[in-house]
Amino acid sequence: MNAKDVIIACDFASCEDCMKFLDLFKEEKPYVKIGMELFYAEGPSIVREIKRRGHKIFLDLKLHDIPNTVKKSMKVLSNLDVDMCNLHASGASAMMSAAIEGLTRPDGTRPLLIAVTQLTSTSEEVMKKDLLIDRPLPEVVMHYAENAKAAGLDGVVCSPLEAEKVHSVCGNGFLTVTPGIRFADGEKGDQVRVMTPADAREIGSDYIVVGRPITAAADPVAAYRRCVKEFLGK
Ligand code: C5P
Repeated sequence: MNAKDVIIACDFASCEDCMKFLDLFKEEKPYVKIGMELFYAEGPSIVREIKRRGHKIFLDLKLHDIPNTVKKSMKVLSNLDVDMCNLHASGASAMMSAAIEGLTRPDGTRPLLIAVTQLTSTSEEVMKKDLLIDRPLPEVVMHYAENAKAAGLDGVVCSPLEAEKVHSVCGNGFLTVTPGIRFADGEKGDQVRVMTPADAREIGSDYIVVGRPITAAADPVAAYRRCVKEFLGK
């Protein structure tokens, strides 16, 4: 069975804000997602500091470039010892294979590599008009997921509503990393298609990515524990 976990999206603007938040956790070491904002503001030192504190890290930089550049950049991320990183599947198969090569360390280990299929901000209309992609959005998402699997990637970022379909097409061992998580009694914010941690567990999501329901909660540690309880059942 795949390892399952709750990943906190640490969408903070500075190292100081992020550390203030992580300092709240005295007993557990949550899996942390670092996105572009924090990484571009603070650089690799933020990754080293959070690793030093004992957290696992999903570095969400969504690489997309020519295969050689992605391969060399992935080597840098691998040396930073992140646990999970990602790229755009639209960079195509050669880029994804090159990414795996770059990530793989001399001892054969590597961080998990996850593909973004279509961004959830891209509607079918935008796909048709801006990208000249005429196929239905779900078909494109599943095709990109299959390409990612064929290139040797470990899974995809997707809506929790797509996780079951991804598993049926790519197999249960292929990871689904799902943002868009909200408590049943919580604010949706700008997320449209959302699911509770308990429902994400039911449909077989492997990792849930949770930001504001934890980071903006009055008691973030209690909110994190509630997520873990609902999603992991412990
Ligand atoms: O605060 P919230 O729970 O909405 O945060 C979700 C996190 O997941 C954010 O970091 C957001 O950028 C990320 N994400 C998302 N939808 C995607 C891909 C990533 O919400 N399709």
